[in-house]
Amino acid sequence: MSAATITVLPGDGVGPEVTDQALAVLRAVEETYGHRFTVHRRRVGLDAIAAEGTAISDSTFEVCGQSDAILFGAIGSLPPGTGRGAGPRPEEALFRLRKEFGFFANLRPVRPLEALYGASSLKPEHLKGADLLFVRELSAGLYYGRLESVPGKPSEIRRAPHGTEAVDTLLYTEEEIERVVRAAFEIALRRERKVTSVDKANVLSSSVLWREVVERVAAEHPTVAYEHMLVDACAMRLIRTPSEFDVVVTENLFGDILTDEASMLTGSIGMLPSASLGTRRTAAGTFGLYEPIHGSAPDIAGRDRANPVGAILSGAMLLRHSLGLAREAAAVEEAVEAVIGEGLRTPDLVEPGSTVVGTREMGRRITDRVRSASA
Ligand code: IPM
Ligand code: MN
Repeated sequence: MSAATITVLPGDGVGPEVTDQALAVLRAVEETYGHRFTVHRRRVGLDAIAAEGTAISDSTFEVCGQSDAILFGAIGSLPPGTGRGAGPRPEEALFRLRKEFGFFANLRPVRPLEALYGASSLKPEHLKGADLLFVRELSAGLYYGRLESVPGKPSEIRRAPHGTEAVDTLLYTEEEIERVVRAAFEIALRRERKVTSVDKANVLSSSVLWREVVERVAAEHPTVAYEHMLVDACAMRLIRTPSEFDVVVTENLFGDILTDEASMLTGSIGMLPSASLGTRRTAAGTFGLYEPIHGSAPDIAGRDRANPVGAILSGAMLLRHSLGLAREAAAVEEAVEAVIGEGLRTPDLVEPGSTVVGTREMGRRITDRVRSASA
């Protein structure tokens, strides 16, 4: 029996709908396998700005810090250009969680299911054997640049003698690179033992340093094959020959972009889960934040159309990484595979011959499967 505390931050748009299904699956695991999960639900993003005046309140932050894991839905955004410099922005919640809890490694597995080959924009022969794990650096880089002129401020739009200008800075310390690269090599030891490090070393100084660090860490892992790849080439090869990749490690913004691209291998961005991890330990694993990689999709919010699988698989990652429940995590992943294998599809994945269901029905079928599989 495991006892654990989970803070749930459903957020905005489709966040609450998909998180409800992920939580239902976790509740099924709790009952079926005899664990005890204490759940705290708090506001985040636009929801929190409206109710509490800030994207994430200090008290919510504290509750997160006292938990074993955070289950996160999605946060909305203000229309680009609005709210600049003025009021709080919803994304600040994520940035603060990632930074202050030291979640520097964002794991994003991409494993196209055979039953969904037809839903992908790639031909099936290109998808065969594709099984990637992105390790996206999550707590530095352009998202957290440092202005020499204004310490603590990552970027700004400012008036200059020649007119208005904007600045973002891409800064990585050796230590910030090393800890995420090391994480990638260690994960590779438990997979196919291959690391692709993605950078733009023909242009960026931060990438030149990144390569140096990779060389050094690689020398300590002689059984892991590794390569450097420029990010533009990587964007192409992900679509041409995705099966050549195993672990892909890269800086924050490159990882953000490449994983949206890679999600198309699986048929829908709604399929992809993620785990954001640092070094803090829980009783049986590592403290982490778990969220689908998709956004708040306001256009379909509240209409029972969102794909809950990315959120549900994020719950599986939570079980594995933060609660040390590998068998239960595998049971959830198998349940997803089985239900998809039966032809059930949310509207993002419709193919000829498939049965279209809503968010809730998809969640219920997976939940039922988790319960019956252990019987
Ligand atoms: C993600 C999202 C976020 C990011 C946004 C919401 C700020 O796209 O988690 O991939 O860019 O990191
Ligand atoms: Mn993204």
